[in-house]
Amino acid sequence: MQIVRQLDPLRDALTEIRKDGSKIGLVPTMGALHRGHMRLVEVAMEQCDKVVASIFVNPAQFGEGEDLDAYPRPEAEDAALLEAAGVELLWAPTAEQIYPEGYATNVTVGGISDGLCGAARPGHFDGVATVVAKLFNQIRPDAAYFGEKDYQQLAIIRQMARDLDFTHDVVGVQTVRDPDGLALSSRNTYLTEEQRAKAAVLPKVMKDAAKAIAAGENLSVVLDNAKTRLLASGFHKIDYLELRNAIDLSVLDVFTNPARLFVAARIGQTRLIDNIPIS
Ligand code: PAF
Repeated sequence: MQIVRQLDPLRDALTEIRKDGSKIGLVPTMGALHRGHMRLVEVAMEQCDKVVASIFVNPAQFGEGEDLDAYPRPEAEDAALLEAAGVELLWAPTAEQIYPEGYATNVTVGGISDGLCGAARPGHFDGVATVVAKLFNQIRPDAAYFGEKDYQQLAIIRQMARDLDFTHDVVGVQTVRDPDGLALSSRNTYLTEEQRAKAAVLPKVMKDAAKAIAAGENLSVVLDNAKTRLLASGFHKIDYLELRNAIDLSVLDVFTNPARLFVAARIGQTRLIDNIPIS
């Protein structure tokens, strides 16, 4: 696997990779790879001829007081995992390659970026949309792969791709979970053993609430009960627990399909997010 850190060698490497007309899949990441990321690589390998992965801890998507400095960066281990999985090229740019001096452009995807995580993390999705637009332009993939765990991010990237005329596929890949149901996240490593054990209640509460909503129970009662259960189980703050339209993420006051239940809740210093479809 070739590891490239500068734009000129990236262009040369991509020209070489494309020579035989290969379909290129892109897996953008911030590193600290876990089974969720490797599932994205697997799906990309199934659907494309060659896979390019990127690792860039994007400062533009971290707010003040967030974990930019603490964010794990095990690059050698990440590269070994990607190579073993069959990835052709790793794009691991320096910050200067992405945001050179004088850089002044920002991508904002209006509306859909405002609620849910956008409300608690102002500017976060502008940072995501900006870097992903740049990665799409730099790599020009035939398909790009994102986890449903960050469902709002996926919906925003789909909207951005439509609006900015990116014609490649944006593929959502199902969330990978630990055996107790907790969605995999690089931030799970911040949990103490005790917090990790308590966090397992989150997917259970979500599953029960989704079942009750699908069965036609009163939505606000279901959501209130779910919040009470989370607060009684070790979470100290719930940023949101909301039912939303699965495509445009508009708020639903009553259950209509396609719908998804979204949660962000805090345990210790860690903010966990999750979402599940209602069916
Ligand atoms: O999901 C992530 O890891 C990041 O938000 C992404 C899409 C790689 C952009 O930095």
